[in-house]
Amino acid sequence: MQPMTFAIVGCGYIADSYRACLPFHQDQLRLAGCYDRDAERLAASVRTWGDPAFASLDALLADPEVSIVVNLTDPENHAAVTRAAIAAGKHVYTEKPLAMTHDQAADLRDLARSHAVRLAAAPCNLLGECAQTLWSAVRAGKAGPIRLVYAEMDDGMIHRADYRTWRNRSGKRWPARGEFETGCTFEHAGYSLTVLAALFGPVRRVTAFSSLLVADKQVLPPLDHPAPDFSVGLLEFDRGVVARLTNSIVAPYDHRLRLVGDNGTLDVKEPWDYASSVVFRPASTGRLARLVERKLGAAFGRRLPPVRKPLFRPGRGLPTMDFLRGVAELAEAIASGRRCRLDEDFAVHITEVTEILQYPERFDRPATVKSTFQPIEPMEWAR
Ligand SMILES: NC(=O)c1ccc[n+]([C@@H]2O[C@H](COP(=O)([O-])OP(=O)(O)OC[C@H]3O[C@@H](n4cnc5c(N)ncnc54)[C@H](O)[C@@H]3O)[C@@H](O)[C@H]2O)c1
Repeated sequence: MQPMTFAIVGCGYIADSYRACLPFHQDQLRLAGCYDRDAERLAASVRTWGDPAFASLDALLADPEVSIVVNLTDPENHAAVTRAAIAAGKHVYTEKPLAMTHDQAADLRDLARSHAVRLAAAPCNLLGECAQTLWSAVRAGKAGPIRLVYAEMDDGMIHRADYRTWRNRSGKRWPARGEFETGCTFEHAGYSLTVLAALFGPVRRVTAFSSLLVADKQVLPPLDHPAPDFSVGLLEFDRGVVARLTNSIVAPYDHRLRLVGDNGTLDVKEPWDYASSVVFRPASTGRLARLVERKLGAAFGRRLPPVRKPLFRPGRGLPTMDFLRGVAELAEAIASGRRCRLDEDFAVHITEVTEILQYPERFDRPATVKSTFQPIEPMEWAR
């Protein structure tokens, strides 16, 4: 396949992580340039990476070379930028969430269809070696039929962390205000939800609770509309699996994903890391095994061999995830005319479930999920 040309809109904190992954996709992707409406931020990115800058969003959208617009603006600006790109006839890959409400997300899906362009959304950790290994183990029945999932997305006590010092390679600060006003559920739930939905089908019902536990996160001036910093939801999947998903930025860091089957559990410590292992822990059935489990916890397990050696390993200035793998997936899907694994139906569904988790008061309790998506295929190399 000829590399497909893309352009980045929004040169903020995460844009450097996308840019750092470009060397892994030279065969699939070519970067035409980037744009940020903040001239200083744009200049800092150009200085760091040496990429061409577009003079305006209109100039970027008018460039016939650009096939895919990668929308890395902050969530409040996602819908406007995505809408403009679709109207200009561009395919769009957007950072999550696709939009801040299910209705807005569904409008973008319909707009993309009416313009015959593709729309896809992050996160793309589902396409990583860790998630694909987990999925392969589930298909093979390694832990028996999966009944229950515990998914933790506690991102640490952010309000106590020195987040004011966090900067990316081109010097941009971590956008604390935006993160706290968007909410950790909208920021992070998708990393578990996309994996679980691919494995177990659409979510049919959600029973959720959310709360703002630390209203003052020491941001100056104070936050205009702080979002809930804790949520917990019980998700009932199409195929009968039940999951408890917790999101917070007030509890200590814990990203464990545990799939409980009749024969044991499949555990992932860090779904944000493509190289993270999948561990199988057999069910403790005998008296001795149960005693050991009570005393030592779930200490014993066996690492499953990954479905392929991770192509991407964090370190050396790289993030823990290959952020461009989703863009490459979209490019390949466009080039071959196949469906994209992170397509607009999937993104609308993830947005709807996320909105229910973060703002349960907007819905019935339990909430019936309206959106759905067709089954997703594992990666070719993981089948
Ligand atoms: N910060 C993280 O650790 C992180 C991690 C993974 C994903 N993300 C996601 O990445 C996205 C961006 O996050 P971020 O942390 O880089 O935010 P950020 O606030 O640092 O950067 C957003 C950039 O978009 C620019 N922008 C906004 N509207 C624009 C417009 N209309 N035209 C051009 N530029 C525009 C802003 O000037 C800003 O530089 C979010 O969706 C977030 O959820 C962030």
